[in-house]
Amino acid sequence: MKVLWLLHGVNLDMLGHRAEEHYGTITLPELCARVTAYAAQRGFEVRCFQTNHEGRFVEQLHALARGDEPVDAVLVNAGAWTHYSWALHDALEMLPCPIGEVHLSAIERREEWRRLSVVADLAAVRVSGKGVDGYLEAVDALAEATRR
Ligand code: DQA
Repeated sequence: MKVLWLLHGVNLDMLGHRAEEHYGTITLPELCARVTAYAAQRGFEVRCFQTNHEGRFVEQLHALARGDEPVDAVLVNAGAWTHYSWALHDALEMLPCPIGEVHLSAIERREEWRRLSVVADLAAVRVSGKGVDGYLEAVDALAEATRR
């Protein structure tokens, strides 16, 4: 099985308690379970990671970039870091594998400041505004990207 890291950033541990109109009611453990089950059918073993600490997030990316842990694809929802963390951009840039960027909500149709994603240029696939289905769509694209 290929290894897919599902990486969640700041505030995403609070899914289930956040604005329902944007994020629905699913909790992070439920979301990880859905993606894990779906991705298994696409040949991926999923490893889930979440932190509210930017430095810890970057260090996890370093570990993947160094090859400390296996990685064939990464699916990332960085939360608000998406919109301003160039440190996150530079860490993601070191990864040796395709990256998917996903957002539950439609970031391009919300506040002006959410429209910029500083990691967009690194993503092989970007999906937003489709809730959990968007994650599954991104998994399909990453399965395709890792087949080549
Ligand atoms: C989010 C969108 C971000 O703008 C926001 O800061 C989040 C979640 C999403 O999944 O829609 O925390 O990435």
